[in-house]
Amino acid sequence: MKRILLPSLVALALVACTLSSSCSTTGEHEPASSEDADAVDRASAQSSAPPPLVVDTDAPLLLDEPVEAEAASMTPTTEAAAENAACFVCHANYKSEPLAVWHAAANVGCSSCHGKSFAHRNDENNTTPPETMYPRGKIDAACGKCHLGHDVPAKDVIARWRQQYGGATAPETAACTDCHGKHRLKVRTVQWDKETGKLLGSNRGP
Ligand code: HEC
Ligand code: HEC
Ligand code: HEC
Ligand code: HEC
Repeated sequence: MKRILLPSLVALALVACTLSSSCSTTGEHEPASSEDADAVDRASAQSSAPPPLVVDTDAPLLLDEPVEAEAASMTPTTEAAAENAACFVCHANYKSEPLAVWHAAANVGCSSCHGKSFAHRNDENNTTPPETMYPRGKIDAACGKCHLGHDVPAKDVIARWRQQYGGATAPETAACTDCHGKHRLKVRTVQWDKETGKLLGSNRGP
């Protein structure tokens, strides 16, 4: 995919220096809602579930944004969308996240990209990682499994980059998810090495 994107990225290098660091592209956190529990068979586990995902109570809530249309499209119409409910027990903030919504509609669920991750889901200490994580250098190849080409006018690509890029991101290391979706968490409460799955730290108390 890097080869395909190269012309766009060269153009991006030209505009990168004019960009302000105010356009950040992080996802937001919000507490897992207990209303989600009835959507899955883990309802009973929920009562003993660990505290909500959020520690940063000042972070804006993704669901407060005007995304009703996208949220409506998440009414499970595909098998993948229904399966995603098991993840929303804790990851409620992904219910309306664009990358997840588009793919659920195309029957590509969380588990297509991250694995079924039963051990992760069932670990009340939240120290077991999901099966598949993506260090930055592996994102493009993962998307490239299904998306071979990128038939988009250069000016649209540059405009997107201006509008939505990770402030610290150098154009030559651009990844698909810099421009697509709002899939990154702004605040982490548990950190794993995305290559090895090793637990690096957790501030989620027992
Ligand atoms: C398992 C296959 C698969 C993988 C992996 C995958 N996609 Fe998709 N994606 C699809 C399908 C299927 C669609 C819907 C049909 C289409 O637009 O091609 C889609 C749609 C999209 C769309 C169009 C959304 C819209 O409606 O405008 C974007 C953008 C996209 N994917 C980006 C990505 C990115 C970025 C990644 C990597 C994080 C990725 N995809 C990984 C299968 C996949
Ligand atoms: C610099 C910004 C940028 C980067 C990086 C980027 N895209 Fe896009 N992409 C766009 C824009 C702009 C569009 C057109 C509007 C839209 O559909 O989002 C687009 C459209 C798409 C579409 C739907 C239309 C089509 O051509 O099929 C897919 C799928 C897609 N991108 C996948 C990817 C994948 C996979 C990667 C990483 C290899 C990637 N994009 C990297 C900006 C970018
Ligand atoms: C099309 C593939 C795809 C789908 C579908 C998908 N993810 Fe991801 N996910 C990724 C990729 C690629 C990354 C790495 C993104 C990055 O670092 O920019 C990621 C990263 C994450 C992260 C870590 C974010 C961070 O800041 O480190 C979480 C949490 C996550 N995904 C949860 C989910 C959940 C929950 C779902 C379903 C609702 C889901 N993902 C669906 C591909 C996917
Ligand atoms: C019992 C609660 C729980 C359930 C259920 C759950 N997760 Fe998680 N997950 C977490 C916690 C806690 C984190 C750490 C988030 C943070 O740092 O704040 C996490 C992080 C992740 C990450 C980020 C890994 C990285 O790159 O660092 C991914 C991806 C992820 N989960 C995928 C999933 C998927 C896919 C499902 C459903 C199949 C799922 N999770 C279900 C609690 C859960």
